Amino acid sequence: MHSVAGDAMPALSDTAIRYGAVSRALHWGMALLFAWQFLGMILRATLGRTPVVGFFVGTHVTVGVLLLALGLLRLVWALANHAHRPPYEAGPLGRAARLGHAGLYALMLVVPTLAVVRLYGSGRGYAPFGIEIFAPSETKIEWLMAPANALHGPLAWTLLAFIAGHVVMVVVHQVFLGDRILYRMTRTAGPADPAPAHREP
Ligand code: HEM
Repeated sequence: MHSVAGDAMPALSDTAIRYGAVSRALHWGMALLFAWQFLGMILRATLGRTPVVGFFVGTHVTVGVLLLALGLLRLVWALANHAHRPPYEAGPLGRAARLGHAGLYALMLVVPTLAVVRLYGSGRGYAPFGIEIFAPSETKIEWLMAPANALHGPLAWTLLAFIAGHVVMVVVHQVFLGDRILYRMTRTAGPADPAPAHREP
């Protein structure tokens, strides 16, 4: 169902004018979890081992695995809604946005996947809330651990840089370009909706 002007709630699915309720829940829910993940790791890098940092580090794996599950769901939802999402602008800005979003998706999935593969290879086992996902094993599988050892941190910081760029561009659109694309992710239908200007057909 597509929402029309005057609806109090966004539709579940996306439309050409705005994102629907499912995309919004995934977007803002994951934004909060990423903020938690990065805050913890920034505190760890700056403060070292303190009880507060220990608390954040203690949630890192659980929140990371949750982000991987939500990221996969988000990818499936994005593909299912692909044909009726707000389209990209024509021109270089639209192409940059498309590339930036592809980078965000790739990093959102690769960063936690590498870490989960390392956890499996470590043989430590993994049983969140007592539910066993991997049993502990006697042997370490080094080649499963090597990619995350080399890349989990660097790619995670790259993801943070992409997120920062994403936020900066929303502000640029909102304040300087005046097309208010933020409202696609926040507002429900209403007479104050901006007309989507300069879009590809
Ligand atoms: C998308 C989710 C995740 C993000 C954004 C993220 C982010 C980060 C960041 C920024 C660091 C610090 C790197 C450094 O010290 O330079 C880190 C370290 C770490 N993360 Fe994650 N992480 C995520 C998911 C996971 C998952 C799912 C696991 C485990 C299954 C995990 C395990 C670790 C471990 C063990 C470290 C310390 C060793 C290392 O730097 O590789 N992370 N993570």
